Amino acid sequence: MAEPWNPTIHHFESLGSTNTSLVADATNGAPAGTVYVADFQTAGRGRRDRTWEAPPKSSLLCSVLLRPTISLAEAHLATIAMALAAQTAVERATTKAPLLKWPNDLLFDGAKFGGILAEVVPQSSPGSQQVALVVGIGINLTFSGPPESEATSLEKATGRIIERDAFLHLLLEELGNRQSLLNNQSGRTTLLAEYKGVLSTLGREVRVELADTSLVGQASTIGASGELGVEVDGELLWFHAGDVVHLRPTT
Ligand code: BTN
Repeated sequence: MAEPWNPTIHHFESLGSTNTSLVADATNGAPAGTVYVADFQTAGRGRRDRTWEAPPKSSLLCSVLLRPTISLAEAHLATIAMALAAQTAVERATTKAPLLKWPNDLLFDGAKFGGILAEVVPQSSPGSQQVALVVGIGINLTFSGPPESEATSLEKATGRIIERDAFLHLLLEELGNRQSLLNNQSGRTTLLAEYKGVLSTLGREVRVELADTSLVGQASTIGASGELGVEVDGELLWFHAGDVVHLRPTT
């Protein structure tokens, strides 16, 4: 039976990275639903070894520990659950629905204001069917990103100053509505259907940027583990990681 969703929030004025700290504490047995939120991170991390920076109290910087019964190959679905929760929470808080760009960026008017970094916790009990996952999210509330970036904030994009802790509660409520879906096949199918229904990348011409190359094609589908299918010169290619650029303006 699915365990009840009772997130426990731990607040820190400053941490290196909420993800790094929570991965360490998950290794030592922290329970599912442990949430770390920081006013400031001195070593915040983004996807693909990038940094994630924000002045104190300008953003939601948090990480959530999940322990779903899922294969490692499907662990990316946890970031999808978080992305859907964040999209819905933003719409509830601002009355404006942001776009989701694959893999899990949140956009208003083509500019990013939120991103997700999920990490697998090294397993202490190898026989367990549960995978410990730390899902970290950064949402720019009043900070629109470093000057050279093309990012935005909820304040800039919607004209509203969203209070962090109120938003965190909305986010955890929406995540609670989805996290139990990770535990069985029919739930995972439901989650993927919701994702495919709202992912703005599908149907677009995109450029997929990889470590040392990039490809242009038509984003056409999402696989069972959340991977992106792109038609390039008549061939369907699958991407499990990478950055995507939408080559037509987002609406
Ligand atoms: C991305 O590159 O889009 C992902 C950004 C994830 C940033 C968040 S902020 C809270 C958590 N702690 C980190 O160090 N990173 C994630």
